[in-house]
Amino acid sequence: MKRQRYTGKSYAKAVNIEDLERIAKKKLPNFVFEYVYGGSDDEHTLRHNRQVFDEYLFEPKTMTNVGVRDLHTQLLGNTYQMPLAIGPTGFNGMLTRDGDLKLAHAARELGIPFVLSSVSTTRMEDIVAIEGLTAWMQIYFYRDRDFVKSMIQRCARAGFEAIVITTDSAIYGNREWDVRNFRRPMKPSLPNLMHLLTKPGWIKDVLIPDGLPTFKNLDDLLPPDKRNAQGASQIIGPQLDPSLNWDDMAWLRELWPGKLILKGILSPAEAEQAAAYGIDALVLSNHGGRQLNHSLSPMDTLAEVKAAVGERCELYVDSGFRRGTDIIKALALGADAVWLGRATLYGLAAGGQPGVEHALRLIKKEMEATLGLLGHTQLAELEASCLRHRK
Ligand SMILES: Cc1cc2nc3c(=O)[nH]c(=O)nc-3n(C[C@H](O)[C@H](O)[C@H](O)COP(=O)(O)O)c2cc1C
Repeated sequence: MKRQRYTGKSYAKAVNIEDLERIAKKKLPNFVFEYVYGGSDDEHTLRHNRQVFDEYLFEPKTMTNVGVRDLHTQLLGNTYQMPLAIGPTGFNGMLTRDGDLKLAHAARELGIPFVLSSVSTTRMEDIVAIEGLTAWMQIYFYRDRDFVKSMIQRCARAGFEAIVITTDSAIYGNREWDVRNFRRPMKPSLPNLMHLLTKPGWIKDVLIPDGLPTFKNLDDLLPPDKRNAQGASQIIGPQLDPSLNWDDMAWLRELWPGKLILKGILSPAEAEQAAAYGIDALVLSNHGGRQLNHSLSPMDTLAEVKAAVGERCELYVDSGFRRGTDIIKALALGADAVWLGRATLYGLAAGGQPGVEHALRLIKKEMEATLGLLGHTQLAELEASCLRHRK
């Protein structure tokens, strides 16, 4: 059998996100692909995040006029082309040089928000500078509260519309691929080094220009001799602050005048509490199966959370979304938007900015078709009654 070659534009032939994942796997060194793909412990939640969509079946209406369908969406008072955002993922510069910038430009092209991670490899000011882009900034709570404070103040100065506080990372998840793949922090094991030699394209793109990318927004957290990938990776995990709790919300509100989003909530009771604190939006998330294994998927609690918070805060979801049908199911259960993690990362690894745009266009096309096949033309028409739960 002739071996498939993934040349420069192979991403363009991908017909779905799974194809992009396969191309990404071919292009990336093992340890980078597994960093992106992997989940925590034995990856039950990672698998559940995909399987949960099979529990919901559509009840379509036919014989309705669905000639013109519209995906435009209002999020936090602004209009976007579709109910998606590119969610925060750290270390994007490991997938391709300037990974954050390529993702952000693709988000701008497709008219959706981009969320920059605290552990990004691009300065936050360089993202905000992209004209026409809505940029939100994700922040981890570190033990060094002065640093967190200075980061939030920096976000305000830079002009971010919203900050996103990740709540599900009190302790760094147990990702066993990463443990196996490295001898020491960011020092790949011998088999991984050998495998790396089979990826000259990645070496040329990522390693040769500048070496391993560094965390451009964390300089003030890291001692000068740790401001490199190896040094930082030893510090970032232990710096996660396990004391983060609701008492911190008042402090946050005082510091941050803009929109405030919490990411990682899954329980209806906690969502209710967030609404009572005046949080603008929640991202129901299990961190793509990378934190608490055997955690619920957002799809398991979305309807209950919606019933608990009503219109008091917007509801976004992530974790496992790869298809237009997945997204339409979440919208029918009450989500206002879906954030993408690996779906756009696979596009990024497969084809840079055009690869991300391709991923977003594939999903957009699937959403439009699903909406129409369900018998609707507007997202507002989606209701839980479009779905039947198998159980
Ligand atoms: C490689 C990678 C890095 C991530 N880094 C962060 C991060 O820095 N901050 C954060 O809040 N979430 C992070 N996440 C979680 C994502 O924001 C999102 O919750 C998750 O990817 C959604 O699941 P999905 O990848 O199945 O779509 C990361 C996820 C991945 C795959």
